[in-house]
Parts: sequence; C-alpha cells; structure tokens
Amino acid sequence: MKVLGIAGSPRRNGNTDLLQAEFMRGAGSKGAEVKTIYPSQMKITPCQHCDTCFKEGKCRIQDDMQPIYEELEQADIIVLASPVQFSGPPAPVKAMIDRCQCLWAKKYVLKIPPLSRERKRKGFLISVGATGMKDMFEATRGIVKTWFHVLEIEPAGELVFSKIDEKGAILQQPEAMQKAYEAGQKLAEG
Ligand SMILES: Cc1cc2nc3c(=O)[nH]c(=O)nc-3n(C[C@H](O)[C@H](O)[C@H](O)COP(=O)(O)O)c2cc1C
Repeated sequence: MKVLGIAGSPRRNGNTDLLQAEFMRGAGSKGAEVKTIYPSQMKITPCQHCDTCFKEGKCRIQDDMQPIYEELEQADIIVLASPVQFSGPPAPVKAMIDRCQCLWAKKYVLKIPPLSRERKRKGFLISVGATGMKDMFEATRGIVKTWFHVLEIEPAGELVFSKIDEKGAILQQPEAMQKAYEAGQKLAEG
C-alpha cells in the first residue's frame, strides 16, 4: 500500500502540513509506505494548452511534473492537503492539477486509461481556511472532484476545517489532528 501525500501549502509546517503529517503517520502505523511531495518547492510550469499530449498522452514540458506522473501511477492512496487561497487551491497545486491534462488526453482523446487500472486508487482531501464563510471549500472540492474523476481516483473522504489561520493554529484542535491520524489509518487498512 503506497500513500502519496501532496502537501499543497507554500507555508512549511503550516496547518495543512500538520494535518497531512498526521494522516501519513496514521497510514504508516498500518504499514503503508508513505511519501510526501511539496508542489510549491517544485518547478511545475502551467499547462500551455499546446495539445501535444493529444498525440501520445505525454506532456512535452520537462520539469518536476514528470516524476509526479510516476508518483501518481505508483500510488494506491493520494491525499491532497490544500489550504484555501482566494477560495481555491494555491497556484502550484492548481498548476499540478492542470498539468494532468495529458492524462485527460490519454483517457478522452486516445481512449486509453489515464493511469494503469491494475491499481484501484483512492483519494482524500484535507483543507483549511481562515474564514467561516459558507461554501468556502466549494471551489477546491469542485476542482479536486474533477481531478479525481479524470484520473479515475475514487473519492474516499475529506477533512476540512474553517476558522484556522495562524501557522500552527490547528494544533489547538487536537480532535482535528486525531481525525487526520484516524483517516490515514482507515484508508491504509483498505
Ligand atoms: C494568498 C492567500 C489567500 C488566502 N485566501 C483565503 C480565502 O479565500 N479564504 C479563507 O478562508 N482563507 C484564506 N487564506 C487563509 C489560509 O487559508 C489560512 O491561513 C490557512 O490556515 C493556511 O493554511 P496553511 O498553514 O496550511 O498554509 C488565504 C491565505 C493566503 C496566504
């Protein structure tokens, strides 16, 4: 069982990082192999909509997205931790998702699986936002729903927390950290 964590915040050791680390610790406690990547520290060029991927289902841009395609291929569980920024995910996360356009092209243009179907992948969303605004997670949810759908990742739940702003504020809510740990355990158990 391989768990790929995508730590979407540009703020290291911030709230989503902390929740994600707990999720990974929970998954690890059940024997899963865990790995976390940090899109904000990687070079992920935005999709250029060049449609080159329509020919072979591969992105022509050689940057840090290339190993991420392989990580997605190898993962059984994908957990995206993404703070709300202007109502959506941070730009590096959105760039990573947009660069999955080549997997969309594989599926819908070339009619081949976007990722190998030998694995049944599951996806999980973790998010936090500073405000308590109604619908504050809706844009992120919509984007992630589409991403999971295109990549044939089965949505397996989410943990979202509002009114969390200062770095480390989530630590004031031990039940939130506990939920993240237990979600990691549950998903790793299959
Ligand atoms: C650029 C930027 C935009 C933000 N936009 C929103 C927003 O639209 N709604 C909201 O509730 N919080 C917003 N926030 C606050 C963050 O979601 C909040 O501080 C969160 O706890 C950060 O999580 P992190 O520590 O994992 O980065 C924004 C923060 C930044 C830096």
